[in-house]
Amino acid sequence: MAERPAAAAPVDAAPTGAGWPAGGGRSGRGRRRDRRVYLRRYPLLFTLLVATRHRPALRLGRTVLVHDPQAYLDALTRLPLDRAAAGTVGGTAHRLGADGLLFDQEGPEHRRLRRALHDGLGPAGVAKLRPVWTAVLRRRLAPLAAGEPVDLVPVAAELAGVTAAALLGVDADPTALAAAARRAAATAAAAQLPGPHPPGRSRAARRAVADLTALLGVPPDAAGLAGMLAVAAVNTTVSGLPRAVAWCADDRLWDAAADPARRDTLVDELLRVTAPSPLLPRAAAAAGTAAGCPVRAGDRLLLVARHAAGAHRAGPDPAAPAPPRIARLVFGAGPHSCPGARLARAQLADTLAALVPHRPVVARARADGRAALPGWARLVIRAGT
Ligand code: HEM
Repeated sequence: MAERPAAAAPVDAAPTGAGWPAGGGRSGRGRRRDRRVYLRRYPLLFTLLVATRHRPALRLGRTVLVHDPQAYLDALTRLPLDRAAAGTVGGTAHRLGADGLLFDQEGPEHRRLRRALHDGLGPAGVAKLRPVWTAVLRRRLAPLAAGEPVDLVPVAAELAGVTAAALLGVDADPTALAAAARRAAATAAAAQLPGPHPPGRSRAARRAVADLTALLGVPPDAAGLAGMLAVAAVNTTVSGLPRAVAWCADDRLWDAAADPARRDTLVDELLRVTAPSPLLPRAAAAAGTAAGCPVRAGDRLLLVARHAAGAHRAGPDPAAPAPPRIARLVFGAGPHSCPGARLARAQLADTLAALVPHRPVVARARADGRAALPGWARLVIRAGT
């Protein structure tokens, strides 16, 4: 299944341009802590990506690693991709019996579904959903005012679950919905890892998808899309939101979070450095090149969103942020770029605003060894002094 999307504007500045200090954030503490989520979940892969990131793109057998921002953009917008190949998100969905998802689609059907999503995830849709998650924040962050600790991971899960349920117009329990979406992603990721698989791993993944579908209770023709939306929304939020708050607290960025004029820039910077969906597995449908590296039809592509967006290079720095064309690479590019970006930004902005009065610090953090996306299993914060 080949796709040749429209070309996108070039990324004409490498993320080392003026105003981009090399190295970590102000204190470096946020970066040091955040590394733990990668080392706990994908230690070998993370080490490989770190070791190779000075190369814009390189081939390892039939796999091409892409780190460079322009090459990443070209791979998503110019290279024909096979969206149903094994090892890609679309291919995994096919294997688990959840066809008809945006990730594996192309052409008119893909455009039709994207248009359908536009209402729910555009400015009016996000404004309509906002009271749903701000109510969760108000209730679940209240203990901070009494000096009590709060674990942000279940807060992010409920916030994501309640938002996904409202977006899809279903009556599922938000916490159960988030748990089912996290299980579906984690079992699918485990079934996708290279190497020998214990018996039953694929069965567990199929069962997790079936459980999620049953919980959503939507008609069969809408089940694939609804399930995929829930998985995409919940997993990125549960991974990204606590990581962003931890980094904000560790680098003491609460002044920028408190300032409505700077908060959105801080949000973009935190999303850039955390890159909640750090690696996009894709497959080439035809020959081409990525940063001068030849790509053959059938090659597996590992597009490193985290490095394309310069997460490893600098910041987060709301006073000298990355150019927007670089920062937004964490949401992909081209016709499949993330339709939930506006929603994700709004949720992080509201979370930071709700936390500002407490200027929290991180009390305890435990990295998650099983989640599909690198993240915290527990991220306990308490009001700062
Ligand atoms: C910080 C949070 C998020 C990040 C970093 C993120 C990142 C991404 C990335 C990198 C892609 C692949 C883009 C590409 O192939 O070019 C994607 C696709 C997608 N995302 Fe997100 N996402 C986030 C939140 C969300 C949310 C909240 C939703 C839904 C409410 C969502 C729904 C989707 C969907 C439906 C797709 C598939 C689009 C398609 O194939 O046409 N995402 N996201």
